[in-house]
Amino acid sequence: MTAPFRVALSGDFRKADGSPTFPDFDLAPLMSAPGVEAAFLESASPLRAEQLEDFDALILLAHRFDAGSVPASGRLAVVARFGVGYDTVDVEACTNAGIALVITPDGVRRPVAVSIVTLMLALTGKLMVKDRMTREAAPGYARRGEHMGVGLVGRTLGSLGIGNIGAELFRLAQPFDMTFIAHDPYADQAVAAELGIELVGIEELFRRADVLSVSCPLTPETRHIVNAERLALMQPSAYLINTARGPIVDQKALTAALQARSIAGAGLDVLEDEPPDPDDPILTLDNVILAPHALCWTDQCFAGNGAADVRAVLDVQHGRVPRGVVNREVLESEAWKRRLADYGRRFGG
Ligand SMILES: NC(=O)c1ccc[n+]([C@@H]2O[C@H](COP(=O)([O-])OP(=O)(O)OC[C@H]3O[C@@H](n4cnc5c(N)ncnc54)[C@H](O)[C@@H]3O)[C@@H](O)[C@H]2O)c1
Repeated sequence: MTAPFRVALSGDFRKADGSPTFPDFDLAPLMSAPGVEAAFLESASPLRAEQLEDFDALILLAHRFDAGSVPASGRLAVVARFGVGYDTVDVEACTNAGIALVITPDGVRRPVAVSIVTLMLALTGKLMVKDRMTREAAPGYARRGEHMGVGLVGRTLGSLGIGNIGAELFRLAQPFDMTFIAHDPYADQAVAAELGIELVGIEELFRRADVLSVSCPLTPETRHIVNAERLALMQPSAYLINTARGPIVDQKALTAALQARSIAGAGLDVLEDEPPDPDDPILTLDNVILAPHALCWTDQCFAGNGAADVRAVLDVQHGRVPRGVVNREVLESEAWKRRLADYGRRFGG
């Protein structure tokens, strides 16, 4: 009899009482897959190598996976992160051990793009201030005229980065009749052309955008790429939105710009420190909308991430290269190809 394809789920997928952390993650397609045996690990961060010795695949929520998590058995073939961030995973350790690291861009693309649109509409529509005014009753109603919103037709939507999420933002924004611009040194020109996005230099992006959204990864190159000098290029009527990673924006510089009203406002799903220091001055500003790195958290986002992870591990089980591999060099190694061929033989390609 063929040994089962064993899939580990990190312990944080279950609460202390054993109930699922995210019930929208449907485990049925994994649990009922022929030849698959799945088990929850005990909670540990970082994960310990001995927990993973007898598994072929790991679906990983927030626990860390570092060099000490790599099992000596050589059986683990794939680590599937629930989401697209992988700062909790030692990629080099995975690559050295011939383990493919997979993320779920298909799960987050739409939900994060929707959260950018949410912030754009809330900022330009002055949603938060109008909510507060209404609760004041008559005195609030008396001040309605002081908070005119900003219409979007003909205004310029800019994005720093047009990858998975940045491109989806422009897809969703098509009916708003805005002008689209973006800066991305590695842009897919065909995607930009197809979506009607003008690719511009970074200074021009900051100068021209009425709404500027950040959708690039955090790298040494992009840390504080949104700094005081670039914020100073923005129009006083412009809005900044960051749903990518906090440290891409120099938050002190942004706070100063918001305090000085040298830009109109900001929408931030991510901060430099998460959770923030309760005394962080950004928390006191009325021209910023904040979310706790969870604006994209919806039933569909969590279902989508889970489905993508399950699809990835089942692909590996059947000897197919999964989507969303981060360390693509692993795929070229003889060890990986042999292992994949073996899975294909055992479980059917
Ligand atoms: N808020 C959340 O909950 C949440 C959820 C998912 C993803 N994210 C973040 O969103 C960001 C984008 O994710 P994605 O899936 O679109 O990633 P992606 O890799 O598909 O796209 C990123 C794009 O940024 C571009 N880029 C790289 N360096 C750049 C630079 N110096 N200037 C401008 N562009 C640059 C790349 O060429 C690429 O096109 C990531 O930081 C990710 O971590 C946040």
